[in-house]
Amino acid sequence: MQTMLGPSRITRGAVLEPSRQAEVLERFSRDGYAMLPGVLSADEVACLREIADYYIDTPGAGGDRGYAAPVYTAMVLRCTQSLHRAFCDMLVREPFLSLAEAVCGANAGFCGQNVIRSDKGTAVSKWHIDDILEFPLPPEVPRHDARIKMPVFWFSFQIALSDIDSVENGPTQLVPGSHYSGRVVPEDTEMPIFEGRKPIPILCKAGDVYLFNHQLWHRGMINQSDRRRYLMQNQYCKAWGVYRFSAKDAICNIPAEDLRGGSERMLKLLRREDVKS
Ligand SMILES: [Fe+2]
Repeated sequence: MQTMLGPSRITRGAVLEPSRQAEVLERFSRDGYAMLPGVLSADEVACLREIADYYIDTPGAGGDRGYAAPVYTAMVLRCTQSLHRAFCDMLVREPFLSLAEAVCGANAGFCGQNVIRSDKGTAVSKWHIDDILEFPLPPEVPRHDARIKMPVFWFSFQIALSDIDSVENGPTQLVPGSHYSGRVVPEDTEMPIFEGRKPIPILCKAGDVYLFNHQLWHRGMINQSDRRRYLMQNQYCKAWGVYRFSAKDAICNIPAEDLRGGSERMLKLLRREDVKS
C-alpha cells in the first residue's frame, strides 16, 4: 500500500501560541466554529488528496480492512485512518491534537475521520445538526444562557483540501451561535436565523482548517463550479465517547508495519497498542 502511494508526507506541525490557542477556543465556544488559516502545506494537501482519490477511484481498493474497511458512499470516504499512514499522522499533527485535548480533555479519543469529495451539482444541502439535539430546551425557554459554556462531547476539524473560496464552490454554511438554541433547525425555512444571526458561508483556501461544533445549524452549499470540492474531517471526542459512539468508525485496520515509528499517543488514539512505536 505505502509502496504504491509513497510514504506519508504529513509534518508534525506546531502547537498554537497560548494566547492564540485561548482566542481560538473562546471563539469556538462562543460561535461554535473557529478558523485556523494556512495550517497544511500544499504538499500535505496534495498527499491527502492523492490517497483519497486513489481509494475513491479504484474499485475494491482497501476492501480488505474488515470491519473498518474504507467505503465511499454519499460523497463521503469513511474510515480513512485505515487507508494510509498519512491519515494516522493527521490525527496527531499539531495543532489538531493539542486543541482536541483542550476541548475534550487530556485523554481525548478519536471517533472518526473522513474525506468528503463532491463534484458539480452535489452537496449535503438540507439544513441539519449532526446526529441528535444534545441539549434540548422546552418551548418556553428561548435559549441556553450565554454565560454557560456548552459541553462538547465530540467535534470535528474541517480541513479544506481544495480552495472552497466562493459560494459557487459549495462551502459549508452555518448559523453562528445556534448551538445555544436548544433546538433543531426550523424545517420550514431556507434561511434559518438565530437571534438575528444569519447563515454565513465558511470560505477556505486549501490547507485552511476550522473547528466545528456539529450542534450548529448547518448544511453544505451545492457545488456549482467545475472545481471538485474536498473537505476532510478529523473527529475527536471525550475519552468515554470512544466506546459510546465510535465503535465502528474509529477502528484502524492499517497493517502494523505501516504504523511503526508512530508516537505512543497516535497508537493510543488508534487503539493500536499492539504495535510497538
Ligand atoms: Fe452535518
